[in-house]
Amino acid sequence: MSGGFEIRAATLGDAERIYAMVHLNRDQLVPRSMGGIVETIDRFFVAEAAGEMVGCATYQIHPEFGDARAATVEVQSLAVKGAFRRRGIGRALVEAVIGRVAAFGPKDVVALTFAPEFFGSLGFVEIPKTKVMHKLYTGCINCTKHTDPFTCPEIAMKREMRAADRLP
Ligand SMILES: CC(C)(COP(=O)(O)OP(=O)(O)OC[C@H]1O[C@@H](n2cnc3c(N)ncnc32)[C@H](O)[C@@H]1OP(=O)(O)O)[C@@H](O)C(=O)NCCC(=O)NCCS
Repeated sequence: MSGGFEIRAATLGDAERIYAMVHLNRDQLVPRSMGGIVETIDRFFVAEAAGEMVGCATYQIHPEFGDARAATVEVQSLAVKGAFRRRGIGRALVEAVIGRVAAFGPKDVVALTFAPEFFGSLGFVEIPKTKVMHKLYTGCINCTKHTDPFTCPEIAMKREMRAADRLP
């Protein structure tokens, strides 16, 4: 454990806390059902500090973005508990996701986010929302906060995979 926290793969026992964390950040994150979290628990990472779960992140592979043989991966449900922010936990969660998906050979990683400074610090750059149209039609279309995904302030960002992203 470095920096006073640990990143580990989630277990089914974490599902309720992940649900609570996503719900707590509902203004920034797409809602998730408990059933949906349990079904995809093998894709989640959690951060632990001082004996409690203080962050989570997961991903989805999108064959519909670009070339399916080197599909794009989206970072999803990334959140760190308020009192534990700015300690490198968010960065470590994204790096854990990238480290795992690197083994699958994706071309790039994307995020739709209200935290562009955070993703920018990890080497993500803004891309036009038109590059993630499928996501807009399947995910954002169900949004209850904004009438139009193109005027919603959420920003689409991308980072090309690098050789160094692969975990040893
Ligand atoms: C975005 C979020 C996950 C960042 O988590 P975090 O643990 O605070 O992030 P880190 O400590 O790893 O930050 C890494 C770098 O990102 C940048 N950064 C992080 N938060 C920032 C902020 N609020 N404003 C500006 N830059 C920020 C900084 O460069 C930071 O490095 P520094 O602290 O050395 O300056 C967290 O703020 C959060 O849970 N927000 C609510 C949910 C959300 O918006 N999730 C993203 C949806 S895709």
